[in-house]
Amino acid sequence: MTEYSWPALDGLAYGGDYNPEQWSREVWDEDVALMREAGVNLVSVGIFSWAMLEPKEGLYDFSWMDELLDLLHANGIAVDLGTPSVSPPAWFFHMYPESRVITKDGTVMGFGSRGMASHASTEYREAIARMATELARHYADHPAVVMWHVHNEYGVPVGEDFGPRSVAAWQQWLQRRYGTLEALNAAWGTAFWGQRYGDWEHVVAPAATPTIANPAMKLDWARFTDDQLRECFRIERDAIRQYSDKPVTTNFMAHQSWNTDLWKWAKDVDVVSDDHYLWSPDPDAHVGLALSADLTRSVGGGNPWILMEHSSSAVNWQGRNIAKRPGEERRNALTHVGRGADGILFFQWRASRSGAEKFHSAMLPHAGKNSRVFREVTQLGQDLKDIAELRGSRVVADVAVLYDWESLWAHDLEWRPSDDMQFRERMRAYYERLWRDDVAVDFVHPEADLSAYRLVVAPTSYLLTASAGHNLTTYVAEGGTLLVGAFSGIVNENDAVHEGGFGAPLKDALGLTVEEFLPLREGETCAVSFDGTQLPTDAWAEDIALAGAEVRGTFVGGPGAGLPAVTRHTHGKGAAWYVGTRFGVESLKAVADQVYADAGIVPSGAPEGLETMTRRGATHDFVIAVNHRETDTSLSITGTNLLDGATIEGQLHLPAGDVAVVRVARENPGGGA
Ligand code: GAL
Repeated sequence: MTEYSWPALDGLAYGGDYNPEQWSREVWDEDVALMREAGVNLVSVGIFSWAMLEPKEGLYDFSWMDELLDLLHANGIAVDLGTPSVSPPAWFFHMYPESRVITKDGTVMGFGSRGMASHASTEYREAIARMATELARHYADHPAVVMWHVHNEYGVPVGEDFGPRSVAAWQQWLQRRYGTLEALNAAWGTAFWGQRYGDWEHVVAPAATPTIANPAMKLDWARFTDDQLRECFRIERDAIRQYSDKPVTTNFMAHQSWNTDLWKWAKDVDVVSDDHYLWSPDPDAHVGLALSADLTRSVGGGNPWILMEHSSSAVNWQGRNIAKRPGEERRNALTHVGRGADGILFFQWRASRSGAEKFHSAMLPHAGKNSRVFREVTQLGQDLKDIAELRGSRVVADVAVLYDWESLWAHDLEWRPSDDMQFRERMRAYYERLWRDDVAVDFVHPEADLSAYRLVVAPTSYLLTASAGHNLTTYVAEGGTLLVGAFSGIVNENDAVHEGGFGAPLKDALGLTVEEFLPLREGETCAVSFDGTQLPTDAWAEDIALAGAEVRGTFVGGPGAGLPAVTRHTHGKGAAWYVGTRFGVESLKAVADQVYADAGIVPSGAPEGLETMTRRGATHDFVIAVNHRETDTSLSITGTNLLDGATIEGQLHLPAGDVAVVRVARENPGGGA
């Protein structure tokens, strides 16, 4: 992000995707009336409107959009104007069939759905540039437009393209990255399995292969795909910027994204926005929501961000689409706010009668305004007005969690020591431990400045560059506390095992390397003896080669019986802990408590399931409390609950499932935000 910018709006942003082209003109009038009733002040329009805006190549029809934007503006509703590049019209693919995406197994993606054309298609790139230019020229000065929404969820449903143009772009990308074939051959280790390349044109895409493809090649392919998608974004953003200086965003998918390295993407947008949907099979999906929100804020450098999409109730694309229970949506939305969102938007305003998403919830459901969902949506609109003064305040965290998309890409390739070790599962387990202890966290890139944090947690850092290893080691030497999870520091940026063995980049900090992995069989369990208790574990043990670390926990049973499992090492002025197994959230507790003590972190003491989040404003703090428990609880706090105006003197009583946003006086109002 070049610098923090924000759409010109009063208060917090509230609204959703609005697709009025699916409805007759009379319905628009009802829509804006109900939007006003619900407190909506921002809608995203035009995201899927290409076929309506350019019915034939070069023939633009913006008349309906003009009428719509005028209507919205007359009703005080601002517009986040979409560019429709995610859904090129039927005529486009008819005219340019070679712009269709070709999948890994050679399937040519057909029309009649949605999704990205080939990011490498010249015709596609030219067409999106023209459309963005036309829209920007036409609407740059429209008073309703406060922000631009380029594309939709890059990389979803398809990001990769294995067609011939993409392969040609890949070969050029590799030439830019490596300069010489010698460098490429060395980086990819092509001496293995006789893959040595003698000509750039021989380097094909890692599509269907007899057995697994070279993992370094696949890692570069992920980087290449990410770069290609970002190039497409920049084409549109730059076209818009020729005419408009209003903020440009594209909606990320934080922890659910695969093709996009959001540390890079966040630098390219003016304001970060994110989509999040609860994963129904997970009974604690609100923990995943919190993770996603913290990650979104973090990639944006801690600046306020916009929740661009979430659902008022059930989605339609999971196996069992679970409706939100009364009050759940309010808890969800306020958790996003507590973790830094200054805007809450939904997919979508009015439920679609036709098409693939007719069973997806909306702000205005098929049942109409006399419905629980619309009443809750209207209540939330009021809530956001009531708490608007927290806009611009910041989340402050003492703990950093390392998150790296390159490590995710490399970690989840094939032929790893155990399928049981998954990046997202490990990230969630450590995050959930911190969440249950009500400890605020930022996510950081492994090469970021860590000096502001008392504790750095690396749940899963399989790919860790030598410079990231140096960064973490320096952090510890200078007095930081580090907690590292198993299967970390294994490979470099080319997915090659580090010289010096497993964990070599962290050897000085952790006082160990790992000699051999000892994964468990499916369903097999063992334990770790730690501080007089036996902590159950599974999936992973290992043979640690101590190099100064103190053994704090030992495997009991399983393939690692008697070997070190948990260690602590003093390095310089700091301490580094290592957990050489796949602890679940419960088993992590005993270790985390000691790590917190080392780092001087004092958990809030809130009962588990009472989530508290603090946003720091210029003169006040705002404490957002969300009670996920099925029982009433209370919180020690003094201030004003902005949601109902009540004065709280010492104790806030929070019924089961309820929320509060408490403005708290700061003793030192000028003090560091
Ligand atoms: C999102 C997408 C929306 C809508 C929504 C349904 O991923 O951006 O357009 O499809 O899912 O949950």
